[in-house]
Amino acid sequence: MSSRLFQHDLVDSTNERALASIADGSARHGDVHVADGQSAGRGRLGRSWVSARGEGLYLSIVLLPARAPNPAALTMAAGLAVLESVRALGVGEARLKWPNDVLARDAKLAGILVESRGLDPARPHAVVGVGLNVLQRSFPPELLAERAVTSLALLGCDATREHALDVLLSHLASRLELACLSPERIAADYARASELPGRTVRIRRGSGELTGRLESLTLAGLELALVDGTRARVPLEHAQAVEDLDRAPDRPARSS
Ligand code: BTN
Repeated sequence: MSSRLFQHDLVDSTNERALASIADGSARHGDVHVADGQSAGRGRLGRSWVSARGEGLYLSIVLLPARAPNPAALTMAAGLAVLESVRALGVGEARLKWPNDVLARDAKLAGILVESRGLDPARPHAVVGVGLNVLQRSFPPELLAERAVTSLALLGCDATREHALDVLLSHLASRLELACLSPERIAADYARASELPGRTVRIRRGSGELTGRLESLTLAGLELALVDGTRARVPLEHAQAVEDLDRAPDRPARSS
């Protein structure tokens, strides 16, 4: 991977900067775009990502692999990398939330957004964006009205943004390389780390919800044993949310 690190002050979105560099031909595999703040940080499903200057980590990695990467494997790989990083920073209670969140005490600590633009098979590419809440001690009320949110600081971790970035980049580099070379291994590692197989889950997908025991999570999809004795398979890209119905709630997070 390239070891180029582009440090931006305030940008619209680091994903946008990374995609623009791919479009203008200046990007290299592994380039990292990090910003101090974002004026138009993007989240999943058209949401925005609150990106107060100097408080969180906002970064995007350019991938230009030989073969088209599997977007679900990239999202899982980034989730694993964030999980491993925050645990290495001392947040032992962090966990994965399908498909692209890392939570702690039932509050969102980090999110992942994988994007690509155009489908030229001769030039496979993807941008993996990660937002990690680091120093925030409070969040805008409109964000808190939507969901519980937390940060490393609120969880008692006093890592600086620079240190968190170093830790995160080393985990992302190895997990994303593995996702390009062996996406099946990433799915297997994600399944283990998510602790979902064997649990009763509710899966939300475009055409409604399905509830059953999760038999497996692989690149082929989420395999469910339904209560009526039949089985169902939900392709990864159709699973908008997976709720673990066997899981006891975490200790509440402080929201400010
Ligand atoms: C989500 O949870 O909805 C995904 C959030 C992803 C946010 C990061 S911040 C860095 C990168 N640039 C963006 O505009 N979005 C991602």
